[in-house]
Amino acid sequence: MSEQSERTLILIKPDGVRRGLTGQILARVEAKGYTLTAVELRDADDQLLAAHYAEHEGKPFYAPLVEFMKSGPVLAAVAEGHRVIEGFRALAGATDPTSALPGTIRGDFGRDWGLAVQQNLVHGSDSVASAEREIGLWFPGR
Ligand code: RTP
Ligand code: MG
Repeated sequence: MSEQSERTLILIKPDGVRRGLTGQILARVEAKGYTLTAVELRDADDQLLAAHYAEHEGKPFYAPLVEFMKSGPVLAAVAEGHRVIEGFRALAGATDPTSALPGTIRGDFGRDWGLAVQQNLVHGSDSVASAEREIGLWFPGR
């Protein structure tokens, strides 16, 4: 019997790449049992980020968020597995790295730097519809 497949888009944000944490973060995804089916290091541009973060346009942290996401390379990845969307968000922890629980990626590696936007190391899609939309943006044709 084959596993019911689900996919999610994972981004290791520029803070995670800058701090040399890509290997440790991807190792947690793999150790949890999910399969990486695409991995690419790239520089995000305004057009991609506007589409990716369309739901946040107009919020106070939107412009700082886009600037932060352009501050260095981003590692984009697709992970697969039953309930991977929920599973990766559990691995990532809460949005605010100060309150993210120890044991999570944001809780173990993140902190609040007192900036206009939270630098919290990773992004994970929050629903099947978001995942398919975001994978189409970052990995066209997949
Ligand atoms: P993500 O989309 O990155 O997986 O994170 P999330 O669902 O936990 O958070 P979301 O509400 O979608 O916000 C997107 C990203 O914007 C930054 N943010 N900063 N008040 C703040 O400083 C603030 N609020 C949101 C974070 O980088 C967050 O991950
Ligand atoms: Mg989100």
